Amino acid sequence: MAGDSQQNWVVMVTAQTPTNIAVIKYWGKRDETLILPVNDSISVTLDPTHLCTTTTVSVSPSFQQDRMWLNGKEISLSGGRFQSCLREIRARACDVEDDKKGVKISKEDWSKFHVHIASYNNFPTAAGLASSAAGFACLVYALGKLMNVKEDESQLSAIARQGSGSACRSLFGGFVKWIMGKEKNGSDSLAVQLADEKHWDELVIVIAVVSSRQKETSSTSGMRESVETSLLLQHRAKEVVPKRILQMEEAIRNRDFASFSQLTCTDSNQFHAVCLDTSPPIFYMNDTSHRIISIVEKWNRSEEAPQVAYTFDAGPNAVLIARNRKAATLLIQRLLYYFPPNSDDLDSYIIGDKSLAKDAGINGIQDIEGLPAPPEIKDNIPSQKYKGDVSYFICTRPGKGPVLLTDDSQALLNIENGLPK
Ligand code: DP6
Repeated sequence: MAGDSQQNWVVMVTAQTPTNIAVIKYWGKRDETLILPVNDSISVTLDPTHLCTTTTVSVSPSFQQDRMWLNGKEISLSGGRFQSCLREIRARACDVEDDKKGVKISKEDWSKFHVHIASYNNFPTAAGLASSAAGFACLVYALGKLMNVKEDESQLSAIARQGSGSACRSLFGGFVKWIMGKEKNGSDSLAVQLADEKHWDELVIVIAVVSSRQKETSSTSGMRESVETSLLLQHRAKEVVPKRILQMEEAIRNRDFASFSQLTCTDSNQFHAVCLDTSPPIFYMNDTSHRIISIVEKWNRSEEAPQVAYTFDAGPNAVLIARNRKAATLLIQRLLYYFPPNSDDLDSYIIGDKSLAKDAGINGIQDIEGLPAPPEIKDNIPSQKYKGDVSYFICTRPGKGPVLLTDDSQALLNIENGLPK
């Protein structure tokens, strides 16, 4: 057994995991506990440079209980979803040897040790940007490394799935499919990579974080109510999504943006139609979301081919996928024209890949004021502007999957005592 000479050793692992945005949505479970969906879904992984979770997991004989800190604040691990992930990973733990520390943990010992976990999102948790997806994916990935679990990413995704459905798609970079599976025990409900992030590296993603005072219905309870009351959900899962999945896979394979954007927009709209078809109806999008859809639709229609796709999750934020950098700069100009910032602080209004704004000729507030009306507005009526309706924009792109961070300085826990830094 481990560290006989020194009982206060701490062994730790730090990992970083991306978030993802579904382009064919997951909405509805056939099993609530195992988190088994009613249809397949497909997502794009977002660049972890701009949106990711970092998690440090550690083990020590001195730990009295499993503990977790999220963004520096201790949170409870007693929830069923955390417990499922911890149980499933522990069940697959293998022997671990840390020669430097003279520590040897045998397979059987893992059930006796407690873990400390610290997790940090590099984006505001409250912004409604799928933090649970990156969070559970990172927890499972990091614990898997700590405990020398031999399972591959797909098998790990089936564990992350039990934390939050969409988390299973964050175990890979690029384009990812969550196969719903058939088995009652969920063993075949897992994620696979369709293509890595280099396959279609022209795409640029702009997220409009929409101002909202309203607390939305959680995905978990929203989809439960949809399963119970929406006939459209049943039709969608049975008749619509299976065909759409095949079309989306083909669009991704061929880098066919016209088809990709048409499928992405239609599927987002159908998901929100299912929400409206739920009793009582659920409204995730607000006036600003609808306005962004109109702006994109009008622009796309004025061009020979679609320039931008939009998709919305369980909240008002718009995720906009531009066909290339040129389209993305034209998009940023349009967005800033309609949604100028409330303050003069441009630096905090456009975050992530700021070079996109520079390419769009936006170096200061005066450049936003000087933007001309987009040419697709043909009438002479001056178009209205909606200052302050968007909190900020995040410019990003498709990105890579989970990685280990080997530099100790990036760990979120102290190597001496396993407590948050
Ligand atoms: C609208 O994965 O958050 O973002 O499985 O209950 O944790 P639980 O739900 P969650 O639902 C995500 C729903 C969605 C669509 C999607 O990501 O596919």
